[in-house]
Amino acid sequence: MAELKECVLVDGVRTPNARAHPAKGWFRNLRPDELLTAVYLGLFERNPQVKPEDVEAVFCGTANQTGMQNDIARFAWLASGLPVEVPTNGINQQCPSGMAAMEHAARAIMCGEGDIYIASGVEDMMNVGMGMGMDFPPRLVEYFNPAELPMGPTAEKLSEVENISRADQELVAYHSHLRAKAARDEGKFNEEIVAVTGHDEEGNEFVCTMDQWIRDDPSLEQMAGMNPAFKPDGVVTAATSSPLTTGACAALLMSREKAEELGLSYYVKYAGGQMHGWDPTLMGLSAYNAAKKLLERKGMKASDVDVYEVHEAFSVVTLACVRNLGIAENAPFDNVNLWGGALALGHPLGESGTRLVITLANVMKNERPDAKFGMAMMCGGFGNGNASLWEKVE
Ligand SMILES: CC(C)(COP(=O)(O)OP(=O)(O)OC[C@H]1O[C@@H](n2cnc3c(N)ncnc32)[C@H](O)[C@@H]1OP(=O)(O)O)[C@@H](O)C(=O)NCCC(=O)NCCS
Repeated sequence: MAELKECVLVDGVRTPNARAHPAKGWFRNLRPDELLTAVYLGLFERNPQVKPEDVEAVFCGTANQTGMQNDIARFAWLASGLPVEVPTNGINQQCPSGMAAMEHAARAIMCGEGDIYIASGVEDMMNVGMGMGMDFPPRLVEYFNPAELPMGPTAEKLSEVENISRADQELVAYHSHLRAKAARDEGKFNEEIVAVTGHDEEGNEFVCTMDQWIRDDPSLEQMAGMNPAFKPDGVVTAATSSPLTTGACAALLMSREKAEELGLSYYVKYAGGQMHGWDPTLMGLSAYNAAKKLLERKGMKASDVDVYEVHEAFSVVTLACVRNLGIAENAPFDNVNLWGGALALGHPLGESGTRLVITLANVMKNERPDAKFGMAMMCGGFGNGNASLWEKVE
């Protein structure tokens, strides 16, 4: 058996994240395949050394693969006018779909099946709403209470089980917005965002270069006055939930030798990934369990990882993960989500896993250049967690 190759992350781009709102969402007149086209073509424009026909395969994560997102991996590639010979593979792992796409590509490269891959993720939660077309097996009721399976109720249950207060959850959202705003204003997302033409709330066409949901003036007082979103006596609100979002992200992954041959630079390499299933009624803990198993397998402690991106599906998920890992107690976190998270940036389900890794790599390069290891962690609907470890290339 030949030695494993090294897989490096050469580039990553994303569209801005827009509200998935039929009247206010900036991308309300676009389709999700058009957003994928923007990121695929963005990668080729930024890396002219890479010809589309040289891509071995394209992986694309999408949580809800129906309607406009049915085999969107293939349709978006073809509708972009890209070569028919390049195969595509749609991946579904609910929220970690885009992270699974990265890992599929990285593993293929490391195994020597090809040298150049695109991993991507997309979700348009307006055109393809959460749960659209889903037909749950009725037999699930033998094992789970169906009322506890939707995402909001899992966040409520997690708040109870882990005894995480509403005030602590609001602090996470507050700092997520503050950090995202600071990162945006300082131009830190410029490296990862490709401009997309959309429509503002008045209907005027404009070139979007930033995320729509970030609040410039988050207020703890205002948050404290919001109604619970999922049950009358609950603690989770719209402020402590990631919003319904639309966006796409794509990454260019290569064997290190191919990147060298093409004269492309890179900063991090794939150091391992781990999926882990968990009780779907406490799906937020799937991210923690994936990370824990990955660390154990690598013989590492949580403190050996210098910087984390812990998905903010809900504030409570991030808190449960950082507390269980023992890396933080309350927001603002020292080494977690330094440029904000999904509470402020949005969470287009299948996109987020790719975005988290791209943002992590940019944080490692531009914010924490001393960091050797970075980890991205995603919880997933119905208990599919995923964690992905990246290492600065020496
Ligand atoms: C929580 C949820 C039900 C709220 O949906 P909604 O009622 O349509 O609400 P919106 O997100 O549009 O927000 C409602 C209002 O609250 C406001 N709001 C949200 N966060 C706020 C904050 N931090 N401070 C003040 N106001 C806030 C919004 O701006 C909006 O008002 P606007 O339309 O005037 O701007 C929805 O966002 C949701 O389901 N989120 C979870 C998605 C999910 O499960 N993802 C998968 C995770 S695993």
